[in-house]
Amino acid sequence: MNFHLFLLSSAFVAVSGQLDKVAKEAGLLYFGTAVDNPSLNNQNYLRIARDPAEFGSLTPANGQKWSNTQASQGRFTYGSGDAIANIARQTGQQLRCHTLVWYNQLPGWDTVSSVYNRDQMQQIITAHIQNVAGHYKGRCYAWDVVNEAMEDDGRYRNNPMYRAMGVDYITHSFKVAQQTDPAAKLYYNDFNIERCCNAKINATIAMIRTVKAAGAPVHGIGMQGHSRVGMSPSKREMKETMARFSELVDEVAFTEVDIRHTKLPIGAAEREQQGKDYMEVVGACLETPKCVGITVWDFTDQYSWIPQQYPGEGEACLWDRNYNKKPAYHSIVGLLQSAASSGLRTSATPAPVAAIAVTAA
Ligand code: XIL
Repeated sequence: MNFHLFLLSSAFVAVSGQLDKVAKEAGLLYFGTAVDNPSLNNQNYLRIARDPAEFGSLTPANGQKWSNTQASQGRFTYGSGDAIANIARQTGQQLRCHTLVWYNQLPGWDTVSSVYNRDQMQQIITAHIQNVAGHYKGRCYAWDVVNEAMEDDGRYRNNPMYRAMGVDYITHSFKVAQQTDPAAKLYYNDFNIERCCNAKINATIAMIRTVKAAGAPVHGIGMQGHSRVGMSPSKREMKETMARFSELVDEVAFTEVDIRHTKLPIGAAEREQQGKDYMEVVGACLETPKCVGITVWDFTDQYSWIPQQYPGEGEACLWDRNYNKKPAYHSIVGLLQSAASSGLRTSATPAPVAAIAVTAA
């Protein structure tokens, strides 16, 4: 089949076309990127980030997190998130909003779990979601309502919300998010839930079942998709995971993809491998009827979070730090073009994609 032959042969072919344009032609809803505030004074960066043909969706990398929106209790600030949301408003790009309830990047007043009993925590979560999701109401295609609630070994992450409320904090968060912004697709989002089927994936499935049974409106599951060149999950493994998630929710997405090199500097072979690894992700999404789109966790190495988080690793993005497109970029565009012309996805899944496109408008 053409599509598979393409996978083997395309790594270094430079192709014309832009990511979101060809992603839509291939039947996806969007190809998106995270954008962080420090990059917003860089015209080279903005020329690409603001181009709807390249990125049909933007995600604030930090601007909507708790520490940026409610650094002190009851005082809400939206400058960082709005800076990115306003770009999307001007350009017509979609917004993927990130994230309402997460154990990380919490402000100091909320991290001392022993201070709060169940009722207090419930009030705190309610106020946070009502304010933040209320501020962005009607503008978010999707919200990552709860982020990273599970441990790799399958236990619930022992975070302040869990300590105060148990698993009910997840159910509650989704309910408040839906009341606040009924049009947004409400996602559960996590990492290491791509390669089928580890303890975390099984536990995530069980957790989603539990909270849905308790009335949580979970519409989507986001797989972050951070991985390492040469060690990232295969298309087959990711498709299997998404098939399982698809039994539970309306849609799935890759929400934070970057594929980092573990040793630097790298050569041509590593660059080619990175392209293959990215194509596995894109191919898995294309071949999963409920997979709506792919977001990269920023598009240039200049602003990637990887070197800070994983010292010595990096060059994880589709553009290098000088804004040259890498082989991985061309591989993805070629794969999407090939999928578009073969009709791979549109013929396989007309109904869900069309239905989602209508509600997304
Ligand atoms: C990262 C940001 O990119 C960094 O700038 C910040 O210092 C830490 O958080 N999973 C997530 C994202 O859900 O919010 C994280 O973003 C990366 C891991």
